Amino acid sequence: MNTNVQLPVRVAVIGAGLMGREVASAFGRWFALLDCPVKPELVGVCDVSAGALDWFRQAPGVRYFETDHRALLAHPDIDVVYVAVPHHLHEEIYLDVLRAGKDLLAEKPFGINLAAATKIRDEAQRLQRFVRVSSEFPFLPAVQRIIALARAGNIGRPLSARCAFLHCSDLDPQKPANWKRQNKFCGEAGVMNDLGMHVAHVPLRLGWNPTSVFARLQKVYLTRPDGKGGQVNCDTWDNASLFCSAQIGGESIPLTLEMKRLAPTETNTWELELLGTDSGARYSTKEPKTLWLYHRGKDQWWQKTDLGFAMPFKTITGGIFEPGFPDILMQMWAAYLAERAGLLGERFGCATPDEAVTQHKIWAAALASHSSQRAVVP
Ligand SMILES: NC(=O)c1ccc[n+]([C@@H]2O[C@H](COP(=O)([O-])OP(=O)(O)OC[C@H]3O[C@@H](n4cnc5c(N)ncnc54)[C@H](O)[C@@H]3O)[C@@H](O)[C@H]2O)c1
Repeated sequence: MNTNVQLPVRVAVIGAGLMGREVASAFGRWFALLDCPVKPELVGVCDVSAGALDWFRQAPGVRYFETDHRALLAHPDIDVVYVAVPHHLHEEIYLDVLRAGKDLLAEKPFGINLAAATKIRDEAQRLQRFVRVSSEFPFLPAVQRIIALARAGNIGRPLSARCAFLHCSDLDPQKPANWKRQNKFCGEAGVMNDLGMHVAHVPLRLGWNPTSVFARLQKVYLTRPDGKGGQVNCDTWDNASLFCSAQIGGESIPLTLEMKRLAPTETNTWELELLGTDSGARYSTKEPKTLWLYHRGKDQWWQKTDLGFAMPFKTITGGIFEPGFPDILMQMWAAYLAERAGLLGERFGCATPDEAVTQHKIWAAALASHSSQRAVVP
């Protein structure tokens, strides 16, 4: 049993789709966390689709069911709002949340483009609201170990770094389009808006800010079924490969950022690799509890270690079990709420509005690079 006093925080969700439900699920088993100083209560939900609200009627404690986000925000007994809506709505709804005096856990990409992200970041600063952006993968045990290795700075001379997020489900040309396949809803940056915050968070937190970007972008299926018997145009970039330069350990080294919705056999694969002359590390969600460490001695070795469930916030889950997406989503929320309460300590924090703005600068540089076929300074 968690014997520590847990500070209560009243949370509401705007956007009762895929991600809104994940949050309700994480809060529903919060008692699995043993040392989180804060306890969220889901008190309200809003979606323009009244049908989407019904699922939340089984979630304990929810008392507000609204179809207009302004009606939700008018309730004074809400401290934090999580917003998971299509990208073209981020700017308006995030600003409304901040101006209603609530703190925000925003979804990526934090506005449909750089101008929107900058406006949201600046308004949050002006109003002194606590805002962070969703990005779950850094909370995996192996990723925490790679971050510690990078910070210790003893990998020898840095050689290269790579972070990738790869999906394969769009390889099926018969998969119906949703809003993520159209620029007017997803944004000109396409797959970079969709998957990019996941790829940028760790490099940016480690200070690996790209100083130049050379990008190759791909659009493959230009129409898809609309789910109603017709076809619809799909104009977003499907795949993005960014070949960047970044300063790591005082040296300018190649940093590769890959975001793909057409990556054969890859079902939500997130990967991170850092290589130096003396040591390095590699991780993929394909092997969720396994960390690969490279050491150069007389011979060169890859060591494979099963880390199990060594999460930043302790849980009831057995140490030998492998972590999954719902677990790291819960860890991310624990980090958000603990940091908001000033109780994060040495633990890793969620992506900041500044990091979200910087990722948009990188995606803007990538778009310019692809069209000019030159490297671009973000
Ligand atoms: N962090 C992650 O791992 C992750 C994963 C998937 C999606 N996302 C992000 O989450 C956000 C939503 O994506 P999703 O996949 O959950 O989308 P979704 O389409 O499943 O859900 C979006 C919901 O928003 C609702 N909505 C639309 N307009 C609204 C409005 N004005 N007010 C209230 N509700 C409204 C829709 O009815 C829908 O139920 C996006 O920003 C996306 O990039 C994050």
